[in-house]
Amino acid sequence: MFQPVITIDGPVGAGKTTVGRLVAGELGFAFLDTGVLYRALAMLLLRVGADKDDYAQAEVIARNMNVKMLLEDEHHMLEINGEVVSEELYSPDIEQIVSHVAQQPRVRSSLLPIQRDIASTGPIVLVGRDVGSIVCPDAELKIYIDAPVAVRAERKYLEKIDSGDTISKSIILSLLQNRDEVDSDRDVSPLVVPERAIVIQSENLSAMQVATLIISYFSDLRGREEQLT
Ligand code: C5P
Repeated sequence: MFQPVITIDGPVGAGKTTVGRLVAGELGFAFLDTGVLYRALAMLLLRVGADKDDYAQAEVIARNMNVKMLLEDEHHMLEINGEVVSEELYSPDIEQIVSHVAQQPRVRSSLLPIQRDIASTGPIVLVGRDVGSIVCPDAELKIYIDAPVAVRAERKYLEKIDSGDTISKSIILSLLQNRDEVDSDRDVSPLVVPERAIVIQSENLSAMQVATLIISYFSDLRGREEQLT
């Protein structure tokens, strides 16, 4: 059966989440930003006062994480352990440790079934670092969005300014380079261009233009599937 799953991977600030939401909204698909799970894990770790190196504690939290999609919510929010996720997940404290926590193999394997369960529920767009390579390697359409690091840092900076933050551009650039490095160099499910993925260079495209491109790839695919049936 044609069970549409679209995966979008890429580095920090490539525009995956904005684009993924647009694609999901346009196609009427569910949407899962897998980064939220890693961020929630980092937040819960900080809340219990654990150290970022306390992988045993991180694993326990990951294994017991109860994730619910709020399907009626147009922003595709998640409820994690009974709490609707919030802006808190994007605080500097979490940004600083999330990639460190996410590199632990047992933490990753604990979060894998949660992501696969959600993905199996039907037409969905998944966004992350390993969704096309590890979480859903058989996805119908796999996309990898990229852009030069300076462009991605500028986008993140404008986002922060927009939301009233006063963080400097240079701090954003170094945080982003650090996360890129950790995400790409880790031993388990590093950030890679997944097999069969279509790479989109997004520096000169708006989020809507990227989303339109993805929707056209998907329509082509669906057209070909229909011809075969
Ligand atoms: O996408 P976002 O910036 O919210 O992700 C936060 C962090 O979570 C990433 O820097 C990465 O370390 C981790 N992550 C991951 N695998 C995913 C999604 C996110 O390792 N599929």
